[in-house]
Amino acid sequence: MTQSPPGPADAFYPRPIELRDLHRGVVQVRDVGEGVEVVVIPDGDKLYVLREACPHMGGPLSQATYCRKDGTLECPWHGYLFDVATGALRDNPNERIMASLREPTECFRPERAPRYALTLLAYTVIGDRAYVSRTRGRE
Ligand code: FES
Repeated sequence: MTQSPPGPADAFYPRPIELRDLHRGVVQVRDVGEGVEVVVIPDGDKLYVLREACPHMGGPLSQATYCRKDGTLECPWHGYLFDVATGALRDNPNERIMASLREPTECFRPERAPRYALTLLAYTVIGDRAYVSRTRGRE
């Protein structure tokens, strides 16, 4: 039986995620249509859906390392560590290496440094499918 996406059709990507095909605790990529791929991480009763490009410099989060214990995703390019539940940056290991260069100066104000965060995507589950919203947010 074919089901329709919830709400207005243009509010969701056209291709839903088949939940029965997902592997728990594993970083996976799904094509949700229109040339858009998202990273999907199912864990317990939670499902995280996020943009595939790292917010730092576009690294491939499809190749990121997920830590179930800490609920974090580590980007393969520069090691930024993100909280998958909130999207917030938890750690940038390069800050420790660059600490001596990060002293406030006339040209560098630490409080104005970019605050990177994952782009979490909202979704709605109907039956065995998750319909991914075009808007940011959590389930
Ligand atoms: S591109 Fe992901 S940490 Fe730099």
